[in-house]
Amino acid sequence: MDTHSENPDLYTHIDEDNIAWLHFDKQNASTNVLSASVLEAFYDELLELVERAPRGLVILSDKSNGFIAGADVNEFTRLENHGQALSTIQRGQEVFDRLASLPFPSVAMIHGFCLGGGLELALACRYRVARDDRGTRLGLPEVRLGIHPGFGGSVRLTPLVGALHAMDLMLSGRTVDGRAAKRMGVIDHAVPERHLKVAARAMILNPPVPHRPGKLQALSNHAWVRPALARLFQHQVGKKARRDHYPAPYALIDIWQRHADNERSMMHAEAESVAELIVGPAAQNLIRVFLLQEQLKALGRQVDFKPRRVHVIGAGIMGGDIAAWCAYRGMQVTLADQSPERIAPAMKRAHALFKRRLKRTRPVQEAMDRLMPDHKGMGVERADVVIEAIFEDADAKRSLYQQLEPRMRDDAVLATNTSSIPLQELRSALSNPARLVGLHFFNPVAKMQLVEIVRDNETDAAVVARAIAFTRAIDRLPLPVSSTPGFLVNRILMPYLLEAVELENEGVPAAEIDRQALEFGMPMGPIELADTVGLDICLHVAENLGQHLGTAVPGRLRDLVNQGRLGRKSGEGFYQYKKGKAVKSGTSKGHHPNPDVSDRMILRMLNEVVTCLHEQVVDKADHLDAGMVYGTGFAPFRGGPLRYIETEGADTLLERLQDLEQRLGSRFKPAPGWETVSGFSDQP
Ligand code: NAI
Repeated sequence: MDTHSENPDLYTHIDEDNIAWLHFDKQNASTNVLSASVLEAFYDELLELVERAPRGLVILSDKSNGFIAGADVNEFTRLENHGQALSTIQRGQEVFDRLASLPFPSVAMIHGFCLGGGLELALACRYRVARDDRGTRLGLPEVRLGIHPGFGGSVRLTPLVGALHAMDLMLSGRTVDGRAAKRMGVIDHAVPERHLKVAARAMILNPPVPHRPGKLQALSNHAWVRPALARLFQHQVGKKARRDHYPAPYALIDIWQRHADNERSMMHAEAESVAELIVGPAAQNLIRVFLLQEQLKALGRQVDFKPRRVHVIGAGIMGGDIAAWCAYRGMQVTLADQSPERIAPAMKRAHALFKRRLKRTRPVQEAMDRLMPDHKGMGVERADVVIEAIFEDADAKRSLYQQLEPRMRDDAVLATNTSSIPLQELRSALSNPARLVGLHFFNPVAKMQLVEIVRDNETDAAVVARAIAFTRAIDRLPLPVSSTPGFLVNRILMPYLLEAVELENEGVPAAEIDRQALEFGMPMGPIELADTVGLDICLHVAENLGQHLGTAVPGRLRDLVNQGRLGRKSGEGFYQYKKGKAVKSGTSKGHHPNPDVSDRMILRMLNEVVTCLHEQVVDKADHLDAGMVYGTGFAPFRGGPLRYIETEGADTLLERLQDLEQRLGSRFKPAPGWETVSGFSDQP
């Protein structure tokens, strides 16, 4: 017998054993999310079930990609104040409390994504069973949105599995597969797909004693252990996120420390805390960044292009790592270079990547089997995508294209990973010049999610669409940019790096410069970043961009390169490196922090941001923020550089820029476009 609630996103079927199967199936969507209206419908459904008194309840999803991916993040942006947020969260808690107090057994039957509110719902069930494949991912990633679980998740998870496992999941936001979740005690059984229903049914027909944590796990929540553990958690979080930038994980630790032995007061504190966090600037900006990411992810969705085979030419730092990444993501890859010896180091790095990520022998071997060294270039004919990543030399690239084009399929994408040569200069060698597109990956490829999709007026739009679809197929974020010098990310990053070099040259200690950048929220200081990228590469890019954009290259950079101080790779650059780590001397006692340091670096970056927006390097202002966050790690809790300009006020920043221009010269000359930069965004 089926019952349909008024909301078409869920329905219940009662089978011959009187077991109720409640299906989530959000209409016109590929993924289940818990919007306010779905939660209400779920609540009503639970009330009806209580009346009907089935033998038990199994909650499942009809979506192929998973159970429930979380709350509806779009609704988070519409919360106007603490009061409204609090009542929304408390309502969610009530709904899940209703589930937790059902008078019959309940089972969450999980496959695929079970995240955030989805896992909180599962935790409110008496039992949980999940599929045991790698595609099943359970987690509480709320901290990544600047909040923590709010629908009773922290209250239910900590006693279930102990504080160490629970806090590990909630503070990192990481996801685990079914087997790992079973080991931790988050779920009761991890089983193959074909046994999933049987397992769920069995728990209703013969309900076991609900899971209890082991003795040590239970001990972790005791009042006298909590202060010491809380300090440990704070210390661990502190290595990754500062309290003033990312308050959510710290708030969660505080709540647990204070309330872990009183479920009701912890519930209350959880709701209060999320209500406060969610309307705060860090969460709103992180939510914005999440939605920007969704925007970029959506770009490739309409295109009917299913790439399977990739041919990469140039097995150097970039080509080698691009090939490895593609193989890791399931593509059949051939990797060419001038000789087998040049390909060997890339194969070694690929193996290390696969081992790190895939861990088990069989998947590692399968990934290695997908990556074929191919110094003769046999893979060209069959490839759906050909990526050129040879030396940054226009002549070499052109002559390579001449050999490649006649051998390529007509519908295959020809892409270059050039970081500075305009497509205009490269395509002349082709008989179909419109087919060349840029796929600008960043170093290190496995870590940097962004790929700039470089194109100009002459690029075939269908090729661009395919390049975007390919980028999504290997799970990277495509950012369409125009083929202007430095594209977007390097162009904006460069003035910031050069200003840092200027400051260092003026005598500001490198460690102090880096410290101020970290304080602003950058993931790594500019001096250490320059050393990491390699000062020779920085110099090359700076000279190249300098020519086009009229920026001077500091002599200090050239001097260091001439002395062979190339940064991390040569053991010395601005810093000395011991065992790969920069030796940073503390700032001397008499040193007064210079208030200009951070301003000078950040304002030069923002000035370039405004120029890029003005010159329409990106299609949409939002793309610029997304590009800077995902391409450079620009302080995510600030929501991107344009959001930062909006928060600080364009007028205020413009004044500071003018002041710097007067004191320090024309490199601070405000770019055209500052007058119109406010109110840019179409995203909350
Ligand atoms: P690399 O010097 O590490 O590797 C280049 C490889 O190409 C060498 O192994 C070389 O033997 C091979 N090669 C040269 N000519 C060839 C040909 N005709 N046929 C086959 N193989 C050939 O260079 P890297 O750093 O990997 O850069 C490659 C491209 O990626 C350049 O266009 C560069 O601008 C771009 N890029 C570099 C980034 C970086 O951080 N290194 C970042 C983004 C783009």
